[in-house]
Amino acid sequence: MLNSKIAGLGHHVPEKIVTNDYLSTIIDTNNEWIIERTGIQERRFIDPEKDTVANMAAKACRMALERADLEAREIDFIVFATITSDYYFPGSGVLLQRELGLENIPAMDIKNACSGFIYALSTADQFIKTGMYKNVLVVGAEIQSTALDLTTRGRNTAVIFGDGAGAAVLQPTEGPGILSTHLHSDGKFAEELFVKDPGSSRPHEERQPEQILDTSGFKVHMNGNLVFKHAVVRFMEVINEALQANNIEKEEIDLLVPHQANLRISNYIQQKLGLPDEKVYNNIMKYGNTTAGSIPIAMSEAWEEGKIKENDLVCLAAFGSGFTWASALIRW
Ligand code: UT7
Repeated sequence: MLNSKIAGLGHHVPEKIVTNDYLSTIIDTNNEWIIERTGIQERRFIDPEKDTVANMAAKACRMALERADLEAREIDFIVFATITSDYYFPGSGVLLQRELGLENIPAMDIKNACSGFIYALSTADQFIKTGMYKNVLVVGAEIQSTALDLTTRGRNTAVIFGDGAGAAVLQPTEGPGILSTHLHSDGKFAEELFVKDPGSSRPHEERQPEQILDTSGFKVHMNGNLVFKHAVVRFMEVINEALQANNIEKEEIDLLVPHQANLRISNYIQQKLGLPDEKVYNNIMKYGNTTAGSIPIAMSEAWEEGKIKENDLVCLAAFGSGFTWASALIRW
């Protein structure tokens, strides 16, 4: 059976840097609290005049295509992970297809929040393994900034999230490539980290825009403590599951790229796995939590910095809204 490999990685983040000190001028928060609790020093927010989820994704894809030495017209499938699609529907996959000047090829959106990129990677991997598609774009992109409650009421989420996009080109390989992916969810906790509106859960009169009196449903609601407690457990479980499935010891990991949710979560996993600093890649300091964008942006930067080399064993892991959690082991 064929395996799939990542043939190229790319990313794009908006130019506008938003510092903790800036947020402290509009919200009752401060640089010390944010750094101590999250590790975040700054994040990027889009310029609504020029950045969209689809066009940031297109920039990330063009970089990934160039690095894979591939033309956009050779792509035969798009899997797009986002919870902040440009429109409520259709998804951003078709908009990316249009941005790249492609026609007719299938484009699929995946809405699994912070685990979205690994879900998308796993989906693409299955299609390549069966021989159905050969050159697949796997994308994670988000614009969180325009939905944030940038007041003191929303401070537990306002300081965390950022915008950005990352992409990978997947291709078949005779070599090992993606060794396995592991996906999980537990809908019991759906409302512990969610945005309610514009969902279909409301009755007719409440879904009519002119009738909406309570607009708080459009903001991110997060039970931070609970999410944190589940995250540290599930991250470890799903990484161990990937190692066991492949009969690999944790010491053999060359680079762990965790979803960038909180530096304390990454540090906890690193310590539990006993990995040295150079084997764990974090960039949450610069970008905050970019949800589905975080893993491909981090992988792309790690690759640029020479931290992912041929034959390396790379482990991806994520946890987030749903709850959903996932991991992937890749022999580069
Ligand atoms: O990517 C999806 C997955 N998401 C996550 O994994 C996020 C997981 N959760 C977290 O990262 C953390 O829970 C947070 C960073 C969101 C919050 O950190 P925490 O250490 O859990 O803080 P807390 O919510 O327990 O709040 C502690 C205190 C509270 O004040 P009191 O009640 O002790 O007086 C909060 O009101 O910190 C206060 N607080 C803030 N203070 C300054 C909450 N947000 C802020 C803020 N600035 N931005």
